[in-house]
Amino acid sequence: MPRLNSATDLERLRQEILAHRDPNKPCVTICSGTACHAYACEEVAEAFVKEIERNGLQKEVDVRRTGCHGFCERGPLVVIFPEEICYLRVKPEDVPEIASTTLIEKKLVDRLLYVDDSGQRIVREGDIPFYKHQSRLVFGNNRLVDPKRIDDYIALGGYNALAKALFEMTPEQVLDEVKRANLRGRGGGGFPAGIKWETTRNAPGEPKYVIVNADEGDPGVYQDRSMLEGNPHSVLEGLTIGAYAIGSHQGFVYVRQEYPLAVENLNVALEQAREYGFLGANILGSGFDFDVKVHRGAGAFVSGESSALMTAIEGRVGEPRPKYIRTAVSGIWGKPSNLNNVKTWATVPLIINRGAEWFTSIGTEGSKGTMIFSLVGKVNNTGLVEVPMGMTLRELIFDIGGGIPHGKRFKGVQTGGPSGGIIPEKFLDLPIDFNELTKVGSMMGSGGMIVMDETNCMVDTARYFLNFLAGESCGKCLPCREGIYQMLKILNRICAGKGRRGDIELLGEISEVVRDASLCALGQTVPNPVLSTIKYFRDEYEAHIEEKRCPAGVCKALITYYIEQEKCQACMICLRECPVGAITGGKNLIHIIDQDKCTKCGACLEVCPPRFGAVTKLSGMKLPEPVRQGTEVIRNRGGRNE
Ligand SMILES: Cc1cc2nc3c(=O)[nH]c(=O)nc-3n(C[C@H](O)[C@H](O)[C@H](O)COP(=O)(O)O)c2cc1C
Ligand code: FES
Repeated sequence: MPRLNSATDLERLRQEILAHRDPNKPCVTICSGTACHAYACEEVAEAFVKEIERNGLQKEVDVRRTGCHGFCERGPLVVIFPEEICYLRVKPEDVPEIASTTLIEKKLVDRLLYVDDSGQRIVREGDIPFYKHQSRLVFGNNRLVDPKRIDDYIALGGYNALAKALFEMTPEQVLDEVKRANLRGRGGGGFPAGIKWETTRNAPGEPKYVIVNADEGDPGVYQDRSMLEGNPHSVLEGLTIGAYAIGSHQGFVYVRQEYPLAVENLNVALEQAREYGFLGANILGSGFDFDVKVHRGAGAFVSGESSALMTAIEGRVGEPRPKYIRTAVSGIWGKPSNLNNVKTWATVPLIINRGAEWFTSIGTEGSKGTMIFSLVGKVNNTGLVEVPMGMTLRELIFDIGGGIPHGKRFKGVQTGGPSGGIIPEKFLDLPIDFNELTKVGSMMGSGGMIVMDETNCMVDTARYFLNFLAGESCGKCLPCREGIYQMLKILNRICAGKGRRGDIELLGEISEVVRDASLCALGQTVPNPVLSTIKYFRDEYEAHIEEKRCPAGVCKALITYYIEQEKCQACMICLRECPVGAITGGKNLIHIIDQDKCTKCGACLEVCPPRFGAVTKLSGMKLPEPVRQGTEVIRNRGGRNE
């Protein structure tokens, strides 16, 4: 690779790359993000390489492995350019047909296309409802670049913003642009990036550090991982621009060890960026020196907190410290250190290229630009979505997410990771931005969005998140260590049917102490799932405590599976499927569940044929008297049987 010594060199290289690329030449892109890997995308890619060879099309067709396209629910995704024909859930055995039909005959393989609600097939990826309502400004290039080929990024204008910053702007002008863009951090509290940069820049002490936070420990969240896996240069470019503005010559990427593909692609990107001269001494001949080290985190959620993360980079246990002096002033080894989330850094090149005015024209008054969410849970289209700030929850969950599966009712959505709050149905029209989410007791966090339906118990949900956080508390400060434990104990007993009058109030009191007295934002935000569920779903807590009933039928201690004798047709299916042999009966004998043996796994309910509907789940009700063992079944009487 030639080393580039000026902005002109970069532009010349871009023109050379483009000159060797025919925009009309078919290019088969195969999503190779982590989710698609789980669906054997590598085998699909290899099958394409072989099939193209077999047909002698190597010169006519390109094959490219890309990062996550976002619609992970339907992976592996294959998109064929220039038409942007999108095939979903592609298996290696589909490849010969795609090659012969689409690449050779120029026809579509209908069965692999997206089918919308009206039964119409959609050809272009961008026309699929999941994509149509999004604004993929930061995430969009993932589907176009091979993360292991820097030329793909350069062909799309990559490193143009860095060249612009280095040669056309002073560090102060870069800082001013980011401040005017009002870019708020995408990793947690939404703190304005420009103000943090300025604090580090003005803080006494050298050297100064800039850091990418790719710890991302929230359950169900994977957009930072997908950015690093799919388009690592966009993050490195943003980081280098930030370093220039701040006056830093050393950067770190703190990435969790459990993200092997992100680490691999990041290391390849660093190598290639160094070879071209986007990193190292005298970047692009500008006189500015900057390089980046990768620090692999050991997978502790709390180590994503800024002071804990910096302590971990120093080689010590990743625990938070009191932040009377902020890390922006005294961070790694006591030096000024600016930490930003992956998405925050990846947004910077856009702002430098297109300007603060453009950026502030997107979003709401207090939250500018777009946000990438992990849309998961009880929603039809799970995946990664990028929308302008201010889009409503309803648009995101129903227009993009395709609504709730199996015709179930939407119940709530948790935003902001494990310590976010759960937002009920009445706020579906809430515009999503930092301030609005906080107003209703939740937060933006790093963009987690877990959708829940009527079969989710809200007490159990709060218990689940508290259980996660109890395991992740570092234990350094007492309010967090003991407070979460006590709250979890109360939630456990409520779910176990042993809740006491006054437990709801006690949860509220402990929440206040934990929120106000904890050392770091882990403890300070822990009460969110508890307080929000008490506020919006108090009747569920009361049903658990007063009536020993779980309205959603989730808490095992409060539910009973029962076979209605009038409906049982002695088909033996549940009897065979019960993993603990709790069901007795015979070919002509009514089946009975031995409640002492039953582990409440629900297998009997799942397998009972719907035409019989003999198994029911009861909660808070007295169990009907069981029939005598050996009672014969009376067929075709009552119930829903034939
Ligand atoms: C317990 C805890 C875990 C956190 N984990 C992350 C994380 O995984 N990624 C992240 O970007 N920020 C995380 N944060 C927020 C960081 O402390 C910090 O605010 C953020 O990285 C700053 O970047 P931003 O201004 O670009 O959002 C966490 C905070 C806490 C309290
Ligand atoms: S990993 Fe392939 S679409 Fe997300």
